[in-house]
Amino acid sequence: MRRAIYPGSFDPVTNGHLDIIERGSKLFDEIVVAILVNPEKRALFSIEERRAMIEEAAAGVRTDGCVVRVDSFQGLLVRYAVEQQADAIVRGIRAVSDYEYELQMALMNRRLEPRVETVFLTAAAAYSYVSSRLVKEIYQLGGPIDGLVPAPVEARMRAKFDAG
Ligand code: PNS
Repeated sequence: MRRAIYPGSFDPVTNGHLDIIERGSKLFDEIVVAILVNPEKRALFSIEERRAMIEEAAAGVRTDGCVVRVDSFQGLLVRYAVEQQADAIVRGIRAVSDYEYELQMALMNRRLEPRVETVFLTAAAAYSYVSSRLVKEIYQLGGPIDGLVPAPVEARMRAKFDAG
């Protein structure tokens, strides 16, 4: 039984994140999508909203036998990974520019907890420029985001921005 943690802010989940979940599902029996609770970072969506969006979107992903679970965590990622009895941390790499930061985190996490491996998965080229930050910015400025996020996420973004 191989379990991986897929951590992130997921504010909101994008089609790029779903692509990584689908790819990860070929390698692991269970993927725990773990939303970081970070009181220092102002988020657009609450943890509960983010959880609901990931659950809804992940239900449409072909994951064969792999179970996808959504959770949230606070504090050190490796501590959470050990609590969850995970074998690995999964991170998606979109471009070389991601690699430096991801390598630094992976090495630091290894120093903190050598039992947990970090696995980098290469994002689909079509999503290599997609990020939650840009999606929010484009939407806020009235640009189209179809194809970048799952339809339910787009609907929630519309509702959020329409509400002011
Ligand atoms: O989606 P993001 O914001 O790029 O994800 C970053 C995340 C959640 C993976 C990273 O900030 C993290 O692991 N935070 C938890 C705190 C921690 O363990 N910090 C030490 C990392 S070496």
